Amino acid sequence: MSGRRLIIAPSLLACDFGRLSEEVQKVEEAGADWLHVDVMDGHFVPNLTMGPAVVDAIRRCSKLPLDIHLMIDHPAQYVRPFLDAGSSSLTPHVEAAGLKAPGSVEMLVDAVHRAKARAGLAIRPKTAAEALKPYLSVLDLVLVMTVEPGFGGQQFIPQALPKVRQLRQWYQGDISVDGGITEETGVLCRQAGANVLVAGTYVFKSSATRHTIQTLRGA
Ligand code: DX5
Ligand code: ZN
Repeated sequence: MSGRRLIIAPSLLACDFGRLSEEVQKVEEAGADWLHVDVMDGHFVPNLTMGPAVVDAIRRCSKLPLDIHLMIDHPAQYVRPFLDAGSSSLTPHVEAAGLKAPGSVEMLVDAVHRAKARAGLAIRPKTAAEALKPYLSVLDLVLVMTVEPGFGGQQFIPQALPKVRQLRQWYQGDISVDGGITEETGVLCRQAGANVLVAGTYVFKSSATRHTIQTLRGA
């Protein structure tokens, strides 16, 4: 495992939304590095979650970087509202409708960078690492889904690990893994070269949050 900074990013998808500010505070006090926010539109994935208004609410109860995972079609249409809401990074999917046209990913990345935010790009489990390769020089973050996007609490897909290994050979920026991350699968991902662990269920369903986050750090 490298000396690259390890980031633990609890996914708020698994929190109790009726107590959002307390849940945010709980993971912040327990040592989280970033807050991961899963945005779903009911088209790109068969589920609906939060929009810019919720990101704005989270921004007002935490100082942590907000890592926004956009599981939506036509993400470019929503870049401005999510940036205005206080997003620190925006990570749409390379498979999203609206990002297939030549130059469209680069335009989105530019818009994010002009707002001094970080730009990421994500791939589904069935998408090859090669799909990210043309963009690596302009990206701050890549995200490898380790479950099918759409829902928390699923089983980790080990076939994602070779993709992480491949990406680490090409890319020195942040490599994030998302889905089914626990102490055990977290170690496998770190060994493969990931340095950002997104974990929803494992962190929020734990009764000892600080300890759980430490287990992800390998401490
Ligand atoms: C799934 C989301 C994940 C999800 C992970 O589409 O991208 O961030 O919250 O949840 P767990 O850790 O429960 O698999
Ligand atoms: Zn996510």
